Amino acid sequence: MYTERNEVRMRVAIVTGASSGMGREFVLQIGALYKNLDEIWVIARRKGNLERVAEQSRLPLRIFDGDLLKKPVYKAFCEALCEDTPDIRMLVNAAGFGRSGSVEEISMQRRRIQTDMVGLNCQALTRMTLLCLPYMHPGSRIVNLASAAAFCPQPYFAVYAATKSYVLSFSRSLREELKTRGIIVTAVCPGPVDTPFFDVSGKPQNFLKELTMAQPGPVVHQALKDSRKRKELSIYGLPMKLTYAGTKLLPHKLLLRIQNL
Ligand SMILES: NC(=O)c1ccc[n+]([C@@H]2O[C@H](COP(=O)([O-])OP(=O)(O)OC[C@H]3O[C@@H](n4cnc5c(N)ncnc54)[C@H](OP(=O)(O)O)[C@@H]3O)[C@@H](O)[C@H]2O)c1
Repeated sequence: MYTERNEVRMRVAIVTGASSGMGREFVLQIGALYKNLDEIWVIARRKGNLERVAEQSRLPLRIFDGDLLKKPVYKAFCEALCEDTPDIRMLVNAAGFGRSGSVEEISMQRRRIQTDMVGLNCQALTRMTLLCLPYMHPGSRIVNLASAAAFCPQPYFAVYAATKSYVLSFSRSLREELKTRGIIVTAVCPGPVDTPFFDVSGKPQNFLKELTMAQPGPVVHQALKDSRKRKELSIYGLPMKLTYAGTKLLPHKLLLRIQNL
């Protein structure tokens, strides 16, 4: 791929939420898997963590440390896009967080946390996608971290489940729209994964979540494999595949009752 000045474009992957958990794992696995990339551009708030990931990555990382709920990180990122006009081969939107508890309780504890959740999980993901799309070409991929929580409403995880339904719905529609451009969109819908996610969200209260906890390595491996196979959804493990089928077959009322057992 060439720039207007006939220079070869740099081929990059972009990973948000790269400082821990699945985002970090995406960086390491993309580096090991895609030998034809020049750099991975990573975004998260904890610069020290990103620097440690850079030491372990096979590919050089370009670090954008900043809060995706605030403007400066987008400014730095947009400047880099304009300057380098890279060929974005992959965008992984992994930044996100959840918080369990009743909507009212959470609101009393931390007034803005639930609107920030919508801001990060939905708005920032959409904004990153819109910024990257002009730099994507046939064969480029978008991998959006949704969740099995996207499959049905979840009382006591209400806002989080709703944000992930947004991610799933947005990814599916975008996938259809981008077919003519040859860009592949995959929504990743894991069940519980053993990452620092639970330090923020609170420990899973449901024993089924403890029982079905997956490791980030295999979940990300599957997601990259599914993206390569141009799949719409990446659902890791039999329990979550069965959960998905169940949420397609059973009415919401019943699903809500089962969750309250
Ligand atoms: N773990 C699970 O059970 C699970 C299951 C299904 C889906 N998911 C989804 O998978 C994605 C990755 O989660 P994870 O499990 O890997 O959790 P994690 O280890 O807590 O990672 C979350 C990432 O998001 C970044 N982040 C949080 N707030 C940010 C902000 N305001 N600005 C920029 N970056 C921010 C964090 O970096 P900084 O703190 O350094 O900013 C971190 O790198 C999330 O979207 C999550 O909803 C998780």
